[in-house]
Amino acid sequence: MALFKKKQSISDELVLPEHIGIIMDGNGRWAKKRHLPRSAGHNAGGKTFRKISRYCSDIGIKYLTVYAFSTENWRRPQEEIDALMKLFKDYLEEAVKDFKDDSIVVRFIGDKTPFSDELKALMKENEEGSADRDGMVLNIAMNYGSRDELVRAVKNISAGVKNGEIDIDLIDENTISDNLYTAGQPDPDLIIRPSGEYRISNFMLWQSAYTEFVIMNKLWPDFTESDLDEAIRIFNQRNRRFGGV
Ligand code: IPE
Ligand code: IPE
Ligand code: MG
Repeated sequence: MALFKKKQSISDELVLPEHIGIIMDGNGRWAKKRHLPRSAGHNAGGKTFRKISRYCSDIGIKYLTVYAFSTENWRRPQEEIDALMKLFKDYLEEAVKDFKDDSIVVRFIGDKTPFSDELKALMKENEEGSADRDGMVLNIAMNYGSRDELVRAVKNISAGVKNGEIDIDLIDENTISDNLYTAGQPDPDLIIRPSGEYRISNFMLWQSAYTEFVIMNKLWPDFTESDLDEAIRIFNQRNRRFGGV
């Protein structure tokens, strides 16, 4: 049974992660198993994304970051990229309305430059249309790569040093964090990767220094609210020491 249905008791029983990251992986394999085109897997994954983001908001998660498209995903066949861009467009046309009742704040992390003007406008509309809400912050990582994010931070900081705004001796870890797309947000406590892959694939490298990882064998389109509950249960069994004893 889903956590939300027994929210009262579960909030006593379990500590909720403040920030969850999800690497939404396995859409292609899900489609392949069904002899369907990969795009059908992405459509199914999109439905799972809507369901799980709403569920996270319902149970009281404060920040959710979902990895939707990486800086390396442009290497895929053009046909697949076109299908993904269409999916993003269809989704973003509805997202502001879709999440209104849940008060979800939508943000995009990643470099928006290569997206079409239409997609860029939809991203802006979603960010501006949801900015005043007070619910869960949903970061959608699109054309996101952690290395790219760090290069961008280095450039911003270097420009600050060059024009005299930043004193080189005062650069510290916060200076770096403040120049990432996730500036001002807590680091993820838990990162979930469905589909059984044991790798980070360029997701939140700096932010995940002390994140707990939960790898699950389910493919993303098959992922349910109960799987999220399970990941939170596993998270609760971990002993986070942050380098202490
Ligand atoms: C994740 O699913 C979605 C994106 C990367 C856009 P995949 O498309 O990577 O699915 P698999 O890993 O091939 O099964
Ligand atoms: C990571 O999955 C990116 C997203 C889920 C958006 P990939 O499928 O691109 O990662 P690799 O290629 O298996 O490392
Ligand atoms: Mg994959």
